[in-house]
Amino acid sequence: MKNILVTGGLGFIGSHTVVSLHEAGYNPIILDNLSNTRIDVLGGLEKLMGKKPVFFQGDVNDAAVYDQIVSQTGPIHAVIHFAAFKAVGESVEQPLKYYHNNVQGLITLMLAMERLSVKNMVFSSSCTVYGEPDQVPVSEETPTKPAASPYGVTKQMGETILKDCTWLQTQCLRYFNPIGAHPSGLIGELPLGVPSNLIPYLTQSVAGLRPPLTVHGGDYPTPDGTCIRDYIHVCDLADAHVASLNRLLGNKQQDHFEVFNIGTGTGQSVLEVLHGFEAATGEKPSYQVGPRRPGDVVAVWADAGKASSVLGWQARRSLSEMLRDAWNWQRKHS
Ligand SMILES: NC(=O)c1ccc[n+]([C@@H]2O[C@H](COP(=O)([O-])OP(=O)(O)OC[C@H]3O[C@@H](n4cnc5c(N)ncnc54)[C@H](O)[C@@H]3O)[C@@H](O)[C@H]2O)c1
Repeated sequence: MKNILVTGGLGFIGSHTVVSLHEAGYNPIILDNLSNTRIDVLGGLEKLMGKKPVFFQGDVNDAAVYDQIVSQTGPIHAVIHFAAFKAVGESVEQPLKYYHNNVQGLITLMLAMERLSVKNMVFSSSCTVYGEPDQVPVSEETPTKPAASPYGVTKQMGETILKDCTWLQTQCLRYFNPIGAHPSGLIGELPLGVPSNLIPYLTQSVAGLRPPLTVHGGDYPTPDGTCIRDYIHVCDLADAHVASLNRLLGNKQQDHFEVFNIGTGTGQSVLEVLHGFEAATGEKPSYQVGPRRPGDVVAVWADAGKASSVLGWQARRSLSEMLRDAWNWQRKHS
């Protein structure tokens, strides 16, 4: 069994990917400092995997943690690097927090990988690297533009650093907007504090745990005035990591740095999601339209053709499944 170090593996995308890795016959090793998750995610993972996951509580910025891990698990075959902060608005207010965790954290990890001769990496990038694109959908060939937030800059910097380090084989996955939860309802999205992403806020608000949702901006140049995003089921996204890892560890990579858009290829507006939520769950969300939020782009969705032709991966789950699974998770969790 190949050991895969999963930084941020108790977070939203990381935890779902741990399950997919386990199901695909890999041995996931989780490193997480619990800065945006809870230890009880381990319980959900244990139920889904049928065994206790291997977990190290620690910080990616702590160089010594990697030696401690390897001394206990043996060699690491690849790293999937999720650990980062991700709140666009917060990154505008506290940029250094983001540069330190997302950029310095990546460098500390890469120095450890170089020292420990780990040469394979799957990197969590984001569609934010495209900035405000001139046209949609965006393909991997679409030139990146200035990012709209320090968070987006950290992902652009991460990509540049990885591209410059030719000793490393990198699969760079540009995620669009992951939502949903495992259909079992045993794991899902549960950020600490007030959620800054649409769906966890929406489900917590419908569950009566938060005030009504504020839609950030209703005067954008889109058909209904709200932002458009490419929402993807987190389990589809998790499966993309397995496809990517298979390519990496099967030595099929043709360039040391390969980029893939991981989205569905369809854009939905915030209002379409809110109406879709009601159709999928029977629950009517309360919301009001507020001012725009700094750092948000108007519209972005993926051309995911490269992931399909090269990785053999495609998103399979519908928006309705994403919303139903997110609500199922919220209800079970609350
Ligand atoms: N969720 C999205 O909408 C989205 C979109 C595009 C890209 N991404 C990227 O995907 C990755 C995972 O996102 P997510 O939605 O699962 O976020 P998340 O916050 O749920 O998960 C990140 C995990 O990393 C941990 N972590 C953060 N800093 C750490 C550190 N210094 N050391 C150890 N652990 C640390 C947190 O505790 C958390 O469990 C991030 O890199 C994010 O930027 C997310």
